[in-house]
Amino acid sequence: MTLEEVFLILAIELCVIVFVVWIAWSGILGAPWLPTPKSKVRAMLEFAKVNANDKLYDLGSGDGRIIVMAAKEFGANSIGIEVDPLRLFWSRLAIRRNKLGEKVKVIRANFFKVSLEDATVVTLYQGHEINKKIRAKLDKELKSGTRVVSYRFILDGWTPTKMNKDNSIYLYIV
Ligand SMILES: C[S@@+](CC[C@H](N)C(=O)[O-])C[C@H]1O[C@@H](n2cnc3c(N)ncnc32)[C@H](O)[C@@H]1O
Repeated sequence: MTLEEVFLILAIELCVIVFVVWIAWSGILGAPWLPTPKSKVRAMLEFAKVNANDKLYDLGSGDGRIIVMAAKEFGANSIGIEVDPLRLFWSRLAIRRNKLGEKVKVIRANFFKVSLEDATVVTLYQGHEINKKIRAKLDKELKSGTRVVSYRFILDGWTPTKMNKDNSIYLYIV
């Protein structure tokens, strides 16, 4: 084996390790990136009756599709919280492309460390176990009347106000 081949193999191995750590990192903090289909995003926002008076937070905002649609089609002010720098980059591009800089922002942070006290709507697509921790945070921080919309996973211990089983959407009003 030549020296070039050894370097090539090492470079490939390094890329694989970086990729795995990257995926695992957001997987440790919460769910890894898996985008909600846009038709379901629209259904979530309609389900929660999102409107221009709302301040919406998406917990783990991925490529920004929920925060962008909430502002563009429903007039809400929206904030995404995301740990993955690549998703953050894509969501900032989407915000700029849609000229939504006044209404939408995205924060690079662990959503457990961001206060949600001024939210009127919270959206999330996380996982069964992590939702238990998220529910405890929401219990502590959300003001009465805040709508919480979860895609695919319920929030254990809360009874959904409304659910759309075909689309796997659960709405809670705190
Ligand atoms: C299943 S994806 C959902 C993305 C987006 N909300 C959507 O519906 O298309 C979950 C996202 O949460 C992010 N995430 C996981 N844990 C997080 C945490 N503790 N703080 C911030 N972002 C987190 C992941 O990086 C990933 O982009």
